[in-house]
Amino acid sequence: MSDPANSSAGGPIPPNRWELNVTSTSGTSYAECFEDLIERGQDIDGEARLADVLAPRRARILDAGAGIGRVSAALAVRGHDVTAVEKDPDLVARSRARFPEVPVVESDILGLSPAVLEAAGRPTAYDVIVVVGNVMIYLADETEARTLRTLAGLLAPEGRMLVGFRPHKGPEHSRDYPVEAFRRHVAEAGLAFENLFGTYELRPATDDYVVAVLRPV
Ligand SMILES: C[S@@+](CC[C@H](N)C(=O)[O-])C[C@H]1O[C@@H](n2cnc3c(N)ncnc32)[C@H](O)[C@@H]1O
Repeated sequence: MSDPANSSAGGPIPPNRWELNVTSTSGTSYAECFEDLIERGQDIDGEARLADVLAPRRARILDAGAGIGRVSAALAVRGHDVTAVEKDPDLVARSRARFPEVPVVESDILGLSPAVLEAAGRPTAYDVIVVVGNVMIYLADETEARTLRTLAGLLAPEGRMLVGFRPHKGPEHSRDYPVEAFRRHVAEAGLAFENLFGTYELRPATDDYVVAVLRPV
C-alpha cells in the first residue's frame, strides 16, 4: 500500500501550508494556545457541541486535520467513535499524549481512503466529518475541492460534514479563501449546503467566519 502521507489514488500529495510554514518542532502558537486554554479549564468545545447535534448517538466521526485532538476528545466524551486524522508529527504526538483514548491516523487528508482507514482499524464510512479550526485555509493551494471530494467519499449515506474557517485575514501563513470559492469547491466535490452559519452557536452568516453543514448531492 502507498504511503498515505505522500501519495493517493488522486495522485501526488503536495505539502500543505501548515507543514511548509508553521514550525512544529518547537511547539506552535496554535498548540500552546489551546493547551493553555485546556489547562485553565476554558470552554473550547463549541465545534464539538455542534457536531454532536448533527450526529446520531454513538456516531462514527472523523476529525480531519485534528491538531492536538481537542475536538476529537470532546466528541469522544460525548460517546462517539472518533477517528482523528493529522499529518503534523508534533501535533500527532501531542494528541496521543494528552488524549490517549483518541485514535489518531497520521496522514494527509488527501491520503485517506476506505482501505487506508480499514488498515488503521478505523471505520471506513462516517456519520459526521468535521473539518474545523481553519484546516481549509491551511490546505495546499488548489487542493480544496480535491480535499472535500476525498472526505465526501468517506461519508455514510446520511452523513454530513461540518466545515469551519475564517475566510479573510486568518492566522499567519493561512490563505484568504472567499466563500464564493468555497461554494464552487463544495459543488465540484459533489456536496451541497444544508446550512451556512456565522458561528458554532448558529448566528447568521457573516463575512467574518464560515460554519457550513454539507451533505452529498
Ligand atoms: C489551526 S490547526 C487546527 C487543528 C484542529 N482542527 C483544531 O481545531 O484544533 C490546522 C490543522 O490543519 C492541519 N492540516 C492542514 N492541511 C492538512 C492536510 N492536507 N492533511 C492533514 N492535516 C492538515 C494541520 O496539520 C493543522 O493541524
